[in-house]
Amino acid sequence: MKQTGIWIGFCAWALVACGDAGGGTDAGPEPEAEPEVTVDEEALIDAVANYQQAGFVKINDLPYTSQHGLADLVNVYVSTADATKYRSVDPADTDQSIEPFGPGATIIKEHLDDLGEFDGLLVMYKAEAGYNPDVGDWWWGRFTGAPAADTLADSGKVGFCISCHSETNDFADTDYVGGVERSNLDAPGF
Ligand code: HEC
Repeated sequence: MKQTGIWIGFCAWALVACGDAGGGTDAGPEPEAEPEVTVDEEALIDAVANYQQAGFVKINDLPYTSQHGLADLVNVYVSTADATKYRSVDPADTDQSIEPFGPGATIIKEHLDDLGEFDGLLVMYKAEAGYNPDVGDWWWGRFTGAPAADTLADSGKVGFCISCHSETNDFADTDYVGGVERSNLDAPGF
């Protein structure tokens, strides 16, 4: 009981000391800005570099053609914990909506050239809430070769990725992803 009294006393003091930042002639210090949400690109590059060994699941069966004009064919890999949710996105279902992916979800689109050779990666990585809340807090990246800092040609809030994934293709209800044709899922019916 005695302790409760002490806490109430403390809170009353705190209200007087801190509670009137907004009004009066003495407005007090500016409220502190929210810390900016950032993405640790180095750690992300390390995780992505391993995509064929660990941590990712290949979603499609056969390489397929895509709207991505830079690639002749593509494969998609998704962070293991997020693969089921990604598989549920059906490009043929235009009314579908899904719960957004959680922070850390990573989707990799592997680009192949006309000979079927590796030709870079495009990556969507779900950052912490607040990174870019208007468009799902995704970080976007384009690697022109094997993932490394010097092959990362575009990264962050990349306008041309976002405009295509939101306006051109109205993917907002499926958290800005398009999905893979049902007939080309690696484990159909999963
Ligand atoms: C011309 C429009 C267009 C542009 C520009 C574009 N995308 Fe896409 N992207 C799509 C479409 C459509 C799909 C899904 C169907 C497909 O593969 O064509 C897709 C699929 C993806 C996927 C697989 C996940 C999914 O949506 O199913 C990733 C990852 C991806 N894009 C990343 C990027 C990144 C990163 C950029 C920018 C560097 C980018 N995209 C630019 C149209 C685009």
